[in-house]
Amino acid sequence: MYPKLVPWLIAATLCVTLTGICSSSALNTTSAADRIASLPGQPQVTFHQYAGYVAVDEEQQRALFYYFAEAEGNPAEKPLVLWLNGGPGCSSVGVGAFCEHGPFKPSGDVLLKNDYSWNKEANMLYLETPAGVGFSYSVNTSYYKSVDDKMTAIDNLAFLRNWFEKFPEYKERDLFITGESYAGHYVPQLALLIVQSKLFNLKGIAIGNPLLEFNTDFNSRADFFWSHGLISDATYESFNTICNYSQIRRQSQSGPLTPVCSRVASESSREISKFIDTYDVTLDVCLSTVSSQSAVLNKLQETEKIDVCVEDEALKYLNRKEVQEALHARLVGISTWTVCSEVVRYEYQNLEIPTITILGELVKSGIHVLVYSGDQDSAIPLLGSRTLVNNLAKQLGLNTTVPYRVWFEQRQVAGWTQVYGDILSYATIRGASHEAPYSSPERSLVLFSSFLGGRPLPEGLLSESAVEKHS
Ligand SMILES: *[C@@H]1O[C@H](CO)[C@@H](O)[C@H](O)[C@H]1NC(C)=O
Ligand SMILES: *[C@@H]1O[C@H](CO)[C@@H](O)[C@H](O)[C@H]1NC(C)=O
Ligand SMILES: *[C@@H]1O[C@H](CO)[C@@H](O)[C@H](O)[C@H]1NC(C)=O
Ligand SMILES: *[C@@H]1O[C@H](CO)[C@@H](O)[C@H](O)[C@H]1NC(C)=O
Repeated sequence: MYPKLVPWLIAATLCVTLTGICSSSALNTTSAADRIASLPGQPQVTFHQYAGYVAVDEEQQRALFYYFAEAEGNPAEKPLVLWLNGGPGCSSVGVGAFCEHGPFKPSGDVLLKNDYSWNKEANMLYLETPAGVGFSYSVNTSYYKSVDDKMTAIDNLAFLRNWFEKFPEYKERDLFITGESYAGHYVPQLALLIVQSKLFNLKGIAIGNPLLEFNTDFNSRADFFWSHGLISDATYESFNTICNYSQIRRQSQSGPLTPVCSRVASESSREISKFIDTYDVTLDVCLSTVSSQSAVLNKLQETEKIDVCVEDEALKYLNRKEVQEALHARLVGISTWTVCSEVVRYEYQNLEIPTITILGELVKSGIHVLVYSGDQDSAIPLLGSRTLVNNLAKQLGLNTTVPYRVWFEQRQVAGWTQVYGDILSYATIRGASHEAPYSSPERSLVLFSSFLGGRPLPEGLLSESAVEKHS
């Protein structure tokens, strides 16, 4: 039995079987019950929104929270896209939906319409995962003591299975899975489970600034810092000859740094300074919510916690009682909603699991794979991602079908791209941060739209009429 059996817990257990009698605690099984009438402060819109819980383990009372924004215009014709933020342990609703590419952005007491929302192109499903993140919960809190990639992927699959029960009209729909940062683990791992279990109609995955291979990704930081003038020649030399970044990161996960590595780490920290946003080395604004997931990924034991902005619109918005009511959200075992979980203890060793190999499996199964990089991010720099994708293409024997070239958004170069075998793609987003859709919403929407449509990125200056058609 549960160690602390509290009355509300017994009531909640009963409700699972006696739905209707105490429906306020029970998990709803139809989409109608999850329909959001209106979010506090939102402008009028024509699309439907839903939010609520999907049980992933009824016995353990573990449930994941989602927010679903149907496409603006012709939802029945548009694909279904699942979005996952990283961390590990950060919220896709707080970061993805309310700071990056959801339909609204909180501003003071109101929600402003986002002109570059991804629900212009797709039905967007945002999932808070694993349990313990955001509004998602496990009543048996022992679950939080050690959560790993495997548990997360299994729950994500269970979530999708049960979510489709609520939304059967989406079951046969083209499905894409997208995400960023540590979702470089979540997305391919979930996609592989889907392919192996022959479930759903998975067409492709897209991952931004993803952690794909520990050594390559972390060591590319030194090259990025050096080439962007953030560290000196001498410190770059130290990274290459005395102690490299992957060693520093690995040591910091299991204990204190060795004296030599500690010297290299502190010298580079001093040079970079505390006043640079390492998720976008050219941006100098307050980024607390959107940078939290990379703060987790970036955490070294000897460094201070990233300064959190006081004015954090999404955090304030999602902690309003009437907002939580409108979202059908509850705080289970926590007193406030946080961007990144304060209860989940994630297995940090899992950062070392390579997921680049999984991308290879997916490509071999006919799943389209896009890896993209905001090119101003130093947390997971483009340098590592581009090399990993290029090497993967070689290993798979995929020839280049679109040679490395620029792509355009409106009249400006929006980045560079290369496509291999018409199935594996790489793209940079010029001037974008770790959270590309946050800092470069227009360019990110063009990338997203091309990816869903299976089109190469715009090759030249788009004529005004072509631009019209795209938006
Ligand atoms: C709670 O979860 C832990 C870890 O997942 C499990 O070992 C334990 O049996 C669970 N407790 C109950 C009462 O189900
Ligand atoms: C279930 O739906 C009802 C009404 O449709 C709502 O009041 C209740 O909050 C929902 N429960 C959950 C857990 O989402
Ligand atoms: C990082 O350092 C380790 C230990 O010296 C070494 O095995 C590894 O090859 C280095 N990686 C790079 C990219 O230099
Ligand atoms: C890739 O290119 C090589 C050399 O041009 C060619 O021999 C090979 O057939 C191509 N492979 C595919 C899968 O098109």
